[in-house]
Amino acid sequence: MLKIKNLYVNIKNNLIIKGLNLRIKRNEIHVIMGPNGSGKSTLSYIISGKPKYRIDKGKIYFNKKLINNLSPYEISKLGIFLSFQYPIEINGITMYSFLKNILKNKYNNKELLKKIYKVCNKLKIKKNYLYRNFNVGFSGGEKKKNEILQMLLLKPKLVILDEIDSGLDIDTLNIIFKNINKYKNKNKCSLIIITHNTNIIKYIKPNYVHILYNGKIIKSSNKKIIKNIEKYGYKNIINNEIK
Ligand SMILES: Nc1ncnc2c1ncn2[C@@H]1O[C@H](COP(=O)(O)OP(=O)(O)OP(=O)(O)O)[C@@H](O)[C@H]1O
Ligand SMILES: [Mg+2]
Repeated sequence: MLKIKNLYVNIKNNLIIKGLNLRIKRNEIHVIMGPNGSGKSTLSYIISGKPKYRIDKGKIYFNKKLINNLSPYEISKLGIFLSFQYPIEINGITMYSFLKNILKNKYNNKELLKKIYKVCNKLKIKKNYLYRNFNVGFSGGEKKKNEILQMLLLKPKLVILDEIDSGLDIDTLNIIFKNINKYKNKNKCSLIIITHNTNIIKYIKPNYVHILYNGKIIKSSNKKIIKNIEKYGYKNIINNEIK
């Protein structure tokens, strides 16, 4: 479904992604971990087509289509969804009108409201939030729930979750991952889950765990590697790579 070949990304003359390769098939869960500043969020932005992020070299294919030069809108239309590490606040636009816009032409007003209410119930989002300005004054956890609300409404084929779990209380974590797993099992979508949380395997069952360091995936393994990271940090993995 997603194929990234020998990717190099430059931001303001700093090489941030340095020869990254990744292949993701349909219905797979890939966890990406790695030290702060290693390029995880940059990778998620690049896949989603963030403007001004320059691909120096390499290719990104989604279902065999080259997406290197597509706009975020075009990439989203193909079925790729990114939930931001730091969701932004937008003053002057309510959550309802934002959702209505991203789902344009898909449902009439009555259907749309029914649809949104249903997902709000699943995520335990109070309906009055729909009439607040988008994310403005929302707590950290409420913003993350809003990301998942958009995901469930847009029905993407590839979901990228950048630290969806950071700052969530235990009940919210359970609600969010219950809904993510349900969506994944029903739609056979693929997931990239970027996290620092070594407890992540309590909530999802990854097919692969990748370690991103200094702009490259230096190790791809299964969930067992997470126990190792919990015990020793990234030191051993990084040293083995440098040797
Ligand atoms: N606009 C920018 N200008 C300069 N440097 C940037 C810019 N955006 C990102 N970087 C640098 O790129 C590197 C990778 O950042 P990125 O946000 O991808 O890291 P990360 O792996 O997601 O880290 P974290 O785990 O802390 O979220 C960092 O050193 C960061 O400072
Ligand atoms: Mg990040």
